[in-house]
Amino acid sequence: MNQTAPRSLWASRLGFILAAAGSAVGLGNIWKFPYVVGENGGGAFVLVYLACILLVGLPIMMAEFMLGRHTRRDAVGAFVQLEGKRSPWIAAGWVSITAAFLILSYYSVVAGWTLDYVYRALRGSFSGVPAATIEGMFDGLIADGPRQILWHLVFICLCLGIVIGGVQKGIERWSKILMPILLALLALLFMNGMLSKGAWEGIAFMFRPDFEKLTAGSVLEAMGHAFFTLSLGMAAMITYGSYIKRNEDLLGSSLRIVGLDVTIALMAGLAIFPIVFSVGMEPGAGPGLIFKTIPVVFSRIPGGFVLAILFFLLLSFAALTSAISLLEAQVAYLIDERGWGRKRATALLAGLAFLVGLPTALSYNSLAQWHLIGERTFFDSADLLTSNYLLPISGLLISIYVGWFWSGSEEKQELVAGGSGWVYPLWHFLIRYIAPSAIAIVLFFKMRETGL
Ligand code: PHE
Ligand code: NA
Repeated sequence: MNQTAPRSLWASRLGFILAAAGSAVGLGNIWKFPYVVGENGGGAFVLVYLACILLVGLPIMMAEFMLGRHTRRDAVGAFVQLEGKRSPWIAAGWVSITAAFLILSYYSVVAGWTLDYVYRALRGSFSGVPAATIEGMFDGLIADGPRQILWHLVFICLCLGIVIGGVQKGIERWSKILMPILLALLALLFMNGMLSKGAWEGIAFMFRPDFEKLTAGSVLEAMGHAFFTLSLGMAAMITYGSYIKRNEDLLGSSLRIVGLDVTIALMAGLAIFPIVFSVGMEPGAGPGLIFKTIPVVFSRIPGGFVLAILFFLLLSFAALTSAISLLEAQVAYLIDERGWGRKRATALLAGLAFLVGLPTALSYNSLAQWHLIGERTFFDSADLLTSNYLLPISGLLISIYVGWFWSGSEEKQELVAGGSGWVYPLWHFLIRYIAPSAIAIVLFFKMRETGL
């Protein structure tokens, strides 16, 4: 049923790297990473984070690419092909696809906020307005269900429009357009930050090592973020891996993807904090930093009107290239395993993501009282379930499967193609011992923390 039409592959290595980097570079890089660094001891934390990225993130990313390329199937199909239809390992594929499904539904609502802010910035809504009014805009937006639903719909339609075009003409083509623009926007905002009078304060906030702030909790935070930021454990990288050409060097490509992700996260911090400090404000975290503090900053600095447009465009593009990888991971399942056509599969899954996103869009208004896990709204529950459980669980299963159960000769074949001989033993050691133990520790402490 599934091997009839030839499966499409990435047309070029650059296209693949940009698509996978597009998946990795997302809201996490821009609104989470810079703040987490500042709060956890600056330069000291950056070193711990880099260690997590290289020792755990990179080997798992390579494992996901290997599984995809070797089987040429979606995340569930990869395990079916390797272990047969009844194998329990298929659960690893299901956990990842479920994560992709849930994450897309709420990621799209948040991405909708960024579209709303592009619109506000274009209309000059932040210019010459008192800080309290600007901050009130965000509270107004999340209190407004219909408005969020509208932007959520617009965003899902953008994802649908890209993914329906297929691997080469949709995802690859748009990644090659959106990622260079994203880099150019970020470079402009970064230079603006470096030229502002808060430059040193911003640099110090992010990099001055403060070992007192580096706690055991910081290490867990670094591990968890390494996972989320590289889009691991959510079927996206297995699926993107399934479109890589046979003779491509996976280590080289993975290093470039990881390098882009880390560089962009660091640059985002150096674009944001200097201007926040230059107007004498304090950086907050997450949504508050992005949708309250930053617009206030832009209303106070020269050129703020244009900079605000560029900044929210940057966020929207980052969100879009991440979201399409989540949609593609699910679409590939229906195409590969169920023999569906791409159009029908994309339309159905985009529609479902829209529907399941509705309770998230209503989480701060009509459904604010509806608690799912503990005192958490639908949105917070979906976020908790995916980032604290589904992603690490699927990462753990993948590293155990690949490290202990997958055939060594097939692994060597994947790694030696286009790469060099020393890669395999080093990678194998990391995926076998280091990655599973690190994830198991994080999972254990996250469970204790949330009491589940
Ligand atoms: N990697 C993305 C980020 O850093 C987040 C993401 C999560 C993307 C899940 C795709 C899937 O924001
Ligand atoms: Na990221």
